[in-house]
Amino acid sequence: MPAAACNGPNGSETIGAGKYPALSGNPNLEYAGYATYIIINGQAAMPSLGHFLDDQQVLAITDYIQTNLGNDYEADGTLDAVADARPAEPVNQNTEEHE
Ligand code: HEM
Repeated sequence: MPAAACNGPNGSETIGAGKYPALSGNPNLEYAGYATYIIINGQAAMPSLGHFLDDQQVLAITDYIQTNLGNDYEADGTLDAVADARPAEPVNQNTEEHE
């Protein structure tokens, strides 16, 4: 992982230029889907990280934050769910030949 912080040291809440929610003890992490989606796509001031990470890495991070940082949830993410959370490939609307 690069040195960029994940929402504060040890998953604690950071308040600076905006509010970074704590990952520690965060009930939103009970199910993998929410975290997976936000890691890939971002949300509000959270940058999307999906293009830096392959599915395995997104799953590893999701598993990690569900089961560490004071969280004791079941790591219920799957590679299929990670793949599903990725944005659809943009449809190339310009593939037809034009005269
Ligand atoms: C691998 C690194 C990261 C992970 C695993 C991660 C994970 C998450 C998760 C799970 C949430 C949702 C929390 C909730 O709604 O309860 C969240 C929100 C947020 N994250 Fe991150 N994050 C990461 C890196 C970053 C970075 C680098 C930034 C800023 C530069 C950032 C800024 C934010 C902000 C501002 C929110 C709140 C978004 C909102 O207003 O809904 N995160 N993050």
